[in-house]
Amino acid sequence: MAILVTGGAGYIGSHTCVQLLAEGHEIVVVDNLVNSKETAVKYIKGISGKDFNFYRGDLKNMDLVEEIFDKEKIDSVIHFAGYKAVGESVENPVMYYENNLITTINIINAMKKRNIRNFIFSSSATVYGNPATLPIREDAHLIAANPYGHTKLMIEQILKDLYASDHKWNITILRYFNPIGGHPTGLLADNPKGIPNNLMPYIIQVYQGKLKQVHVFGDDYPTIDGTGVRDYIHVIDLADGHAAALSKMKEPGVHIFNLGTGTGYSVLQLIKAFEKTNKCKIPYIIAPRRAGDIALCYADPSKAEIELGWKAKKTLEEMCKVVFI
Ligand code: NAD
Ligand code: UFG
Repeated sequence: MAILVTGGAGYIGSHTCVQLLAEGHEIVVVDNLVNSKETAVKYIKGISGKDFNFYRGDLKNMDLVEEIFDKEKIDSVIHFAGYKAVGESVENPVMYYENNLITTINIINAMKKRNIRNFIFSSSATVYGNPATLPIREDAHLIAANPYGHTKLMIEQILKDLYASDHKWNITILRYFNPIGGHPTGLLADNPKGIPNNLMPYIIQVYQGKLKQVHVFGDDYPTIDGTGVRDYIHVIDLADGHAAALSKMKEPGVHIFNLGTGTGYSVLQLIKAFEKTNKCKIPYIIAPRRAGDIALCYADPSKAEIELGWKAKKTLEEMCKVVFI
């Protein structure tokens, strides 16, 4: 039996595929490559030394979804596929609702039809909005600040309603904090198309000389040095969290876990750590705050440690290390 990995050519999906194959799982990958390249599939196979079927196609197309479930022996789904850029979701909300919701609903319907009920969903710390207390626990208040966040909250609600309607479903919702870093081979990384929105890919492009300097969005937040604090987690630790969640998928229910380290670093701390690790200078300027940003965001990851036996292990230095191929 195989795990269907949607969005498996993407940043987090590709690292998770490597992890799943290393643990001996069979996988099937589907991706329309709207935000990734087919070379990622080649690299996953190369790194793992294992083969699997890859379907290039859009999960909004129910015919394709049916075809995959008919052809493959699938018993679980890890659903990464979706759009993820906050700013783009504000500019083009319908595109976000359409892609993120329809892909999820199509997959759930195909699973339902075949009595497949193991589902892991990529949610986000964005569902906590501006948290009232820190570190953030899974039972914190949920609120979406933009269309992207709404899609995550809506899908979480759909999954909770689904379980309420049929107690055989085994659903895990993983709320990621800020994934950074890449595979030690340098083959898999966060390579967004266009100018990066997120801090780490932006720093890397400054390091590579593609961009001039980092714009630090605000230095007047109530934080250690005035810049925004986030819970950065190595993408390989995150991938490992999926493997842990999968191996504990025994009890039906809706199981929700934060995947973070529990430690927050400021923008300036991250830039300094990057400079030290890669022995370089990253020029930056202080720019106005970015609309919608919050001061502090970091997880209480203890539930995942207690229930999944999972804990992020990689250091900030490992997260910052850039490998060129
Ligand atoms: P990514 O863009 O690198 O990967 C998503 C993949 O899904 C891409 O390869 C894309 O081509 C594919 N895709 C999108 N729409 C599709 C469709 N309709 N049909 C088939 N394939 C489709 O993003 P990522 O960083 O790997 O994120 C994976 C998931 O984790 C997303 O759901 C994202 O919202 C969530 N997430 C990401 C972060 C982050 O900071 N990277 C944080 C929290 C949550
Ligand atoms: N930042 C800068 N300059 C930049 C980019 C970011 O100073 O060029 C700052 C931000 O203001 C923030 C911090 O760096 O303080 C991190 O910003 P990111 O854009 O890297 O990450 P966010 O925490 O804003 O959001 C990301 C994803 C969301 C997701 C969230 C939690 O973009 O979709 O992590 O997982 F919800």
